[in-house]
Amino acid sequence: MIGKFITLEGIDGSGKTTQGLLLEKKLLSVGRKVFLTREPGGVSGAEEIRELLVKGKKDRWSNITEVLLFFASRRHHLEKVLLPAINSGKIVICDRFTDSTIIYQGREDKELVELINQLNDTVIGIIPDLTFIIDINPEISLKRCMKRNSNEIRFEKLGLNFQKKAQKGYISLSQKEKRYQLIDGNNKEEIVHNLIWEKVCKFLNILE
Ligand code: TMP
Repeated sequence: MIGKFITLEGIDGSGKTTQGLLLEKKLLSVGRKVFLTREPGGVSGAEEIRELLVKGKKDRWSNITEVLLFFASRRHHLEKVLLPAINSGKIVICDRFTDSTIIYQGREDKELVELINQLNDTVIGIIPDLTFIIDINPEISLKRCMKRNSNEIRFEKLGLNFQKKAQKGYISLSQKEKRYQLIDGNNKEEIVHNLIWEKVCKFLNILE
């Protein structure tokens, strides 16, 4: 039995992580087998590469080097964790995947986006079945991130304009394929969860 692959996307501080946990809990409560993971990271090795990516100076890598590091981490995560979980029939929820690389590293550079798509085809080879893009006001989300007192803020250091561009990028991405579901994240956690749950029920044929 082949499982399902659901991803959560959005700018920093959009609430993806909370929504991943709420979705995991809800799916478990209706008797589904679930596996929640994240990128970059999700397994040791990939988590070590994460450290190189989310900490330190904002200009420590060139865009291409950064793309390759994300794909090194993604390939390892895929081999060790994602494929085994999907192939064992689980519903895999992943907090970020290749769409994040398209938005964060690809930015508006068509050649880089092409490279990212090629890398995804050749070394990853899977596309999520369903992707939630949580849309939120970047001013609110960036403030939320800066309050967290975390040292994983390399991308947040790129500032509000970067987050605004990323938000626009996600909105236009959401119109490109049927698997994307744009969710209004400017609501209470519970309301956002209900919006996501409604779509998941349709997708998995869960009757409530
Ligand atoms: P997180 O805070 O959602 O765990 O993600 C860590 C950071 O990594 C976040 O600022 C977005 C960034 N990122 C990319 O730039 N490209 C990617 O491919 C992924 C997966 C994350």
